[in-house]
Amino acid sequence: MSEAADKVERGEPVIRSAPMPSDMNSNGDIFGGWVLSQMDIAGGIVAARRSQGRTVTVAVDAMTFHQPIKVGDVVSIYARVIRVGRSSMAVRMETIVVRRLDPGEIKVTEGTFTYVAIDENGRPRPVPPEAQVS
Ligand SMILES: CC(C)(COP(=O)(O)OP(=O)(O)OC[C@H]1O[C@@H](n2cnc3c(N)ncnc32)[C@H](O)[C@@H]1OP(=O)(O)O)[C@@H](O)C(=O)NCCC(=O)NCCS
Repeated sequence: MSEAADKVERGEPVIRSAPMPSDMNSNGDIFGGWVLSQMDIAGGIVAARRSQGRTVTVAVDAMTFHQPIKVGDVVSIYARVIRVGRSSMAVRMETIVVRRLDPGEIKVTEGTFTYVAIDENGRPRPVPPEAQVS
């Protein structure tokens, strides 16, 4: 796939952040849990928007760490809903970094998280039909 097509497929970044030295593991790279939490936040934003309300994370699937994240990287999480069930939504995510001294984009992680739309009692509620943009 071309770089342009890849970007269209990926959608827009939902979160952009920069990890701190306190997010490092003992190898000097960024702790995997840090990027997982960033992905969960980004996916939660997209799922809440799509379902017009509260959601919870129910599963993390097909998670791959391709390359390390380093202190100084600018980290962008791209997320889009790829499947909607009755109450569940699968959100496909990619994490792209730009290193401090290198303008190129590097895909460092990807994964599919599943969220469930919940009501005020924490029970599953139906995901409403997608709002039409006029
Ligand atoms: C999410 C939760 C409300 C679902 O409750 P439940 O009694 O299992 O509800 P259901 O069996 O009706 O399943 C609801 C939906 O979740 C989906 N689901 C449940 N477990 C799943 C799993 N492991 N993977 C993917 N989808 C799952 C079901 O397929 C169903 O989807 P659909 O409505 O689109 O058909 C409940 O499991 C829960 O509260 N989990 C804890 C969530 C949480 O705290 N997350 C943060 C962790 S830090």
